[in-house]
Amino acid sequence: PTSDARAGEHGMPVVIAHRGASTYAPENTLAAVDKAAELGFSWVENDVQRTKDGELVVLHDDTLRRTTDVEEVFPDRAPWKVRDFTAAEIARLDAGSWFSPAYAGARVPTLKEYMRRIEHNHEKLLLEIKNPELYPGIEQQTLKLLDNEGWLDGGHLGRLIVQSFSADSVRTVHELKPAVITGYLGTPTVAELHRFTRFTDLINPSYGSLSQGYVASVHALAGPHGRSLELLAWTVDDAATAREVAGYGVDGIITNKPDVVRAALGSD
Ligand code: G3P
Ligand code: CA
Repeated sequence: PTSDARAGEHGMPVVIAHRGASTYAPENTLAAVDKAAELGFSWVENDVQRTKDGELVVLHDDTLRRTTDVEEVFPDRAPWKVRDFTAAEIARLDAGSWFSPAYAGARVPTLKEYMRRIEHNHEKLLLEIKNPELYPGIEQQTLKLLDNEGWLDGGHLGRLIVQSFSADSVRTVHELKPAVITGYLGTPTVAELHRFTRFTDLINPSYGSLSQGYVASVHALAGPHGRSLELLAWTVDDAATAREVAGYGVDGIITNKPDVVRAALGSD
């Protein structure tokens, strides 16, 4: 297998908690990765971006509006782009109250904090480099941080996949650190897939674009490490779709409701 994300020994797709267990705790926070671990899910997905002063932080949107209280704390800083705020400013924000008062005081984690919590929880990470066009050099910077934190050593490489919607970004990660397992977020045509095999180990499509034939076409090709390409489908939150997609033979399902998907696949 190219990674621990490969379909489990029982042939079941691995279940990946999207942005952490984001239905049950505020997305992309340490609380969300703790919740995933508590529910028994070892794989989590996150999104990485960069602050004005160059700190890598874990956040999905390119603005801080939806998932923090930034509009109250910094009312005159519209449009509240992540890249226009320093790490110290972002550290002041509440990233939990929008979700539930029970999570008041949750913070936007730095990537370093996040990796340490993942390590502490013995979790595995599908790390998305989000909006790389906004952050020149973010691939190198992310890899350096992962290396400093020990995630590029042999024991950790099977617990990490770096993915992006940007093929250029995925290729850059592969060229900088060929040992890292990479994923492309999208659905290249079967003809295009050959080009992707040079730099990506996984093809991770939106489930709506999938068919059994497409999954077979992906599996038929070998990736940069000489092993069969794998496929993780996103974002599947209901039982019927989970069963349908599992029937296509996908290797993993990325979901906001990992408990629902696990129950649907009968792997409870
Ligand atoms: O990992 C797949 C999924 O996260 C891609 O979409 O917008 O939720 O980052 P998005
Ligand atoms: Ca994502």
